[in-house]
Amino acid sequence: MENQKENSQHQFSSREKIPNAAFRVMTGVMGLFDLFGNHSNNKFKTLGLKPDQTVIDYGCGPARYIKNASLAVGESGRVIAVDIHPKAIDAVNSKITKYSLKNVEPVLANGYSTDVPNQTADVVYALDMFHMVQEPTFLLKELHRMLKPDGTLILEDGHQARSKTLQKINDSKIFDIAEENKLHVKCKPA
Ligand SMILES: C[S@@+](CC[C@H](N)C(=O)[O-])C[C@H]1O[C@@H](n2cnc3c(N)ncnc32)[C@H](O)[C@@H]1O
Repeated sequence: MENQKENSQHQFSSREKIPNAAFRVMTGVMGLFDLFGNHSNNKFKTLGLKPDQTVIDYGCGPARYIKNASLAVGESGRVIAVDIHPKAIDAVNSKITKYSLKNVEPVLANGYSTDVPNQTADVVYALDMFHMVQEPTFLLKELHRMLKPDGTLILEDGHQARSKTLQKINDSKIFDIAEENKLHVKCKPA
């Protein structure tokens, strides 16, 4: 609880919570990548989500992965889609309605804090967002809190070098690096 309170009190920089117009532009650009490059479908396959899992899409943005995640975990799995931006929550709700997704729950983050209970998730994936985070240790603490003890955190570098990603993870002292590939760093709670 103390961790949650401390995390929620932290203020975002504008780099993290982007203006609505920028969110719309980002949504459009990502839509083009998906239309012409099948970008999110291809990237989704590398996450390795399994039936029955509870997964958290942290920093879900325009909700590009939500339908695939929902289908991958199936009826007895859950997808929790978290973002600090209300427009992202709108996007998740649109996908829920459009595809009748019954296992998806949108969650608006408050600072580096959410109301997701402790040890909820088998997998937390945070794609193309870690580079935006001004206080990575605050964020990693929250992701750690929501993960089951044997859960996996999948972090994408986004627009930063792998060395920076690794340094931020190591500085937090709460995750061990379990595996690296070209796209992700996979971590386990230390
Ligand atoms: C570039 S978008 C990527 C969206 C999605 N993960 C994807 O790959 O399509 C980054 C998203 O992360 C969200 N974000 C940035 N910092 C965040 C934070 N501290 N907590 C939750 N969401 C955050 C932004 O609001 C934005 O929607």
